[in-house]
Amino acid sequence: MPANKTDVLAALSSVKGPDGVPLTQGKALSDIVVSDGKVFFSMTVDAAAVPAWEPVRKAAEAAVKSVAGVTSVMAALTGERSPGAARPKATSGPVAGTGGPRTGTSGSGPAGIPGIGAIVAVASGKGGVGKSTTAINLALGLRDLGLKVGVLDADIYGPSLPRLLAIKGKPELLGGNRLKPMEGYGLKVMSIGFLTEEETPMIWRGPMVMSALTQMLREVEWGVLDVLVVDMPPGTGDAQLTMAQQVPLRGAVIVSTPQDLALIDARRGIAMFRRVNVPVLGVVENMSYFLCPECGTRSDIFGHGGARHEAERLGVPFLGEIPLHMEIRETSDSGRPVVATDPDAPHAKIYREIAGRVRSAIATAGRPAPRIVVES
Ligand SMILES: Nc1ncnc2c1ncn2[C@@H]1O[C@H](COP(=O)(O)OP(=O)(O)OP(=O)(O)O)[C@@H](O)[C@H]1O
Ligand SMILES: [Mg+2]
Repeated sequence: MPANKTDVLAALSSVKGPDGVPLTQGKALSDIVVSDGKVFFSMTVDAAAVPAWEPVRKAAEAAVKSVAGVTSVMAALTGERSPGAARPKATSGPVAGTGGPRTGTSGSGPAGIPGIGAIVAVASGKGGVGKSTTAINLALGLRDLGLKVGVLDADIYGPSLPRLLAIKGKPELLGGNRLKPMEGYGLKVMSIGFLTEEETPMIWRGPMVMSALTQMLREVEWGVLDVLVVDMPPGTGDAQLTMAQQVPLRGAVIVSTPQDLALIDARRGIAMFRRVNVPVLGVVENMSYFLCPECGTRSDIFGHGGARHEAERLGVPFLGEIPLHMEIRETSDSGRPVVATDPDAPHAKIYREIAGRVRSAIATAGRPAPRIVVES
């Protein structure tokens, strides 16, 4: 019998915070998600109290692990600092340039992930414009430039990377409850889709989304990476804003199709990143024009060029145009991304060129200005 939430709460009631108050009676514990034997929860505490809480997190994990029917536990500890308080000094962080991952003192924003050179979000305001397809092929393009690349699927509600990379199986649990990322086409990959069943709809509340994302970022053995590409969920709501704030992003790549409606959403996306001081590395126009696979004739069915004009208008770099092409759709949907499986195809070349521009943009991206810090 899989465990239920009552069993998990009962186990957690035996664990006390540093103040001696049982977790279930204190304020730190988030909602608890139990799905098919997998348990997720987070504890949010004052940033300064994080070291004192780490043993509590471990004890909570151990207590839940021992509940009958629990197969895995993910417990995140999130340090939150009230706005206006002095920022705790980060011990590591992403450093400009992609000449190799380094750790050092981060300028500002959430603490970086040791070993990861730069984290780049691929986002759009609108759904279905090709973010995931672009994120994967961009990651492969960066790989082809000789960089060590990881991809994180930040779409907790609709993870797509297991399918887009045709990766099956579950990540291995390493010592210290850390997960080993999956691998595909030379990329290290993490997605909530590896941990949950595709058919099981998960109900996520706001804090759970952050907790799952924090764990996939910070409790995965990414090793040494030059770039971690984050495939963002669609939209510019609170969930995306929180993510943009809490993930130590070097910058964002905005994907848009040329139509006016998509561009309005792209504009919102750009505004959102600007609001949290994440540099917009540039805009990609996806499904920019149609290339007939039969005759090679090009037609601008969506009114090509809209994203370029929008980028110029908003003063952000334009990174390139990707045609609407059957091969891109077929390879993407069947888990054989074109850059990896048909590297000589013209589209693969386009993705590599975009990757080159993204690499340069990462190297010159300014450091984000201070904002609320969340560390774990
Ligand atoms: N340039 C392209 N040419 C043809 N098909 C494409 C192209 N880019 C993406 N697609 C297809 O469009 C569909 C949506 O793409 P994708 O899943 O990458 O979008 P998304 O923005 O990540 O969607 P969501 O908002 O749901 O996460 C997929 O079937 C994909 O194969
Ligand atoms: Mg997607």
